[in-house]
Amino acid sequence: MIDYARVEHLVRQAGQMILDANITREQIHTKESRDNFVTDYDIRIQQYLVDNLRILLPEAGFFCEETMQDSESRDIRKGFCFYIDPIDGTTNFIYGYHFSCVSVGIALDGRMIAGFVYNPYNNEMYRAIRGQGAYLNDRRLWTENRTLADGILAFGAPADTTKGETFFKMLYQLYEVTQTIRNGGSAALDLCRVASGSNTAFIQTRLSPYDYAAASVIIEEAGGVITQLDGSPVSLEENCLVIAGAPVAYVQTRNIALRMLDKK
Ligand code: IPD
Ligand code: CA
Ligand code: CA
Repeated sequence: MIDYARVEHLVRQAGQMILDANITREQIHTKESRDNFVTDYDIRIQQYLVDNLRILLPEAGFFCEETMQDSESRDIRKGFCFYIDPIDGTTNFIYGYHFSCVSVGIALDGRMIAGFVYNPYNNEMYRAIRGQGAYLNDRRLWTENRTLADGILAFGAPADTTKGETFFKMLYQLYEVTQTIRNGGSAALDLCRVASGSNTAFIQTRLSPYDYAAASVIIEEAGGVITQLDGSPVSLEENCLVIAGAPVAYVQTRNIALRMLDKK
């Protein structure tokens, strides 16, 4: 039995580390693409979570965004695995947008069983345990079954600019049939806002498992849908395209994505 209250406490503590941060230029490092940064805080927060979650569940594996000094190769499809994004929305963090979060998901035998996504700036804790519902702080979440025309579609832009033209042509089609569009800059929070109903749907053509693992169980427990383009479950092993939404809005988004992206 996992001590979920302890996991939530650790995620809140990690969020406090974001609030306490005083970031300087020297603490920001670029990764492989132009909008992909890592700061000393990403590394510090991840280490804090790994060290403490390891005490809680010594047999668990880890799938984390930042490279781990003491990484070990376990088969993440077997047993428990933590999916950790220490700061989702690092660019927002650097520029003071106040829309970033700590994301921790727990899988058992390749299936997500719990997720915690915490935005420390407004003290919003999204959490779900499989079979026990999804919550935003104390409020039970249930995705209203709205159409795209009845709300906001959130998206994440491709990091690779050569993929931009195709993506934005598709986005234009979505834009025409929604009330409006938003790019929050934190995929995990944008996905959780599908669970809470603030977004009716979400699409991004390439995300990593640590971006969406925790949010995926929160969306499903709120009655929403999250899949890859072909309708299969989001991958817990490699990057994939992610579509999520209230059931009807999800189908509408996926149909447009299939028409515009699936040109094989
Ligand atoms: C990023 C955010 C962003 C998404 C990027 C991700 P990071 O994560 O989730 O919204 O568009 O694809 O890489 O780098 O801030 O953890
Ligand atoms: Ca991150
Ligand atoms: Ca991320």
